[in-house]
Amino acid sequence: MDPQPDANVRPASPEEARDVAGWHAANRAAWDEAAERYEGWFDEAAALIRSGGSNLFPVEEDLIGDLHGRCRRAIHLQCAGGRDTLSLWRLGADEVVGVDFSPRMLGLARRLTEATGAPATWVEADVLEVPHALDGTADLVYTGRGAIIWLADLDRWAAVLRRLLAPAGRLVIFDGHPAEWLFDADEDGGWILTDYDYFGGAEASRGWAPEYIDHLSIAEDDQALKFARAWTLGEIVTALLGAGLRLERVTEHPVDWWAGHRDVRPEERGRLPLSFSIVATRGD
Ligand SMILES: C[S@@+](CC[C@H](N)C(=O)[O-])C[C@H]1O[C@@H](n2cnc3c(N)ncnc32)[C@H](O)[C@@H]1O
Repeated sequence: MDPQPDANVRPASPEEARDVAGWHAANRAAWDEAAERYEGWFDEAAALIRSGGSNLFPVEEDLIGDLHGRCRRAIHLQCAGGRDTLSLWRLGADEVVGVDFSPRMLGLARRLTEATGAPATWVEADVLEVPHALDGTADLVYTGRGAIIWLADLDRWAAVLRRLLAPAGRLVIFDGHPAEWLFDADEDGGWILTDYDYFGGAEASRGWAPEYIDHLSIAEDDQALKFARAWTLGEIVTALLGAGLRLERVTEHPVDWWAGHRDVRPEERGRLPLSFSIVATRGD
């Protein structure tokens, strides 16, 4: 998603938006390319985890709580290079499982395991097709931080979240608020409305936001096409309810989780929802 008009962003066609497998295959190639940026963060991530630290925001740690003695297994969906997954180990999970469809991201996660000795397993799979061997085994399922926008089918996703949970397990989601794309910083660091269409649906794009992945060694026009959709909060909540999950809290936060709005003046921050969280249980 990009709040600014860009030649390399266009609405997905109805055929592209319906083609779940095609959408995800494109994103897999794009994220494998983007793993290059995560490789640059490896030493920092290894040092953080080795020192006993966590990369999670305080708001996430509050939602997740102290996992010591109450989480045999935490499953992190869309785990990327594993830094946040191993943070769950640092919060007290006995064992962590990270799932991602990018082999290059998981290569990085395996290196992080070797560098830290963490009790981690890495599973290469589409989040819609997580192996059934993991069903009912997660005391915590955690996901977010730029995860949901890459998915083409929220109903299938929500069903996977539910089937992974152990009977007393908890789901914690912390992700970007779909409304964040409606706002940007003006030249003076105040908020302005962008041209973004909140109800516009899926976008196809090449290239990455400078605040996040930025330039890669592959020229932007040669990068893999990728698809994203800023699902509305209503669509996300409805998918989770439809899967039978019992929602305990839905909270909106001003946390700028990817520093995408860092040009906004400090006194202006806190006025808009830039992220949200959901805590849920299996509901049976
Ligand atoms: C923005 S990252 C998620 C946040 C992550 N915690 C981090 O450290 O940045 C998005 C991740 O989702 C993964 N991903 C996207 N779509 C996926 C899918 N359908 N199945 C599995 N992984 C997916 C990408 O490979 C990428 O690693």
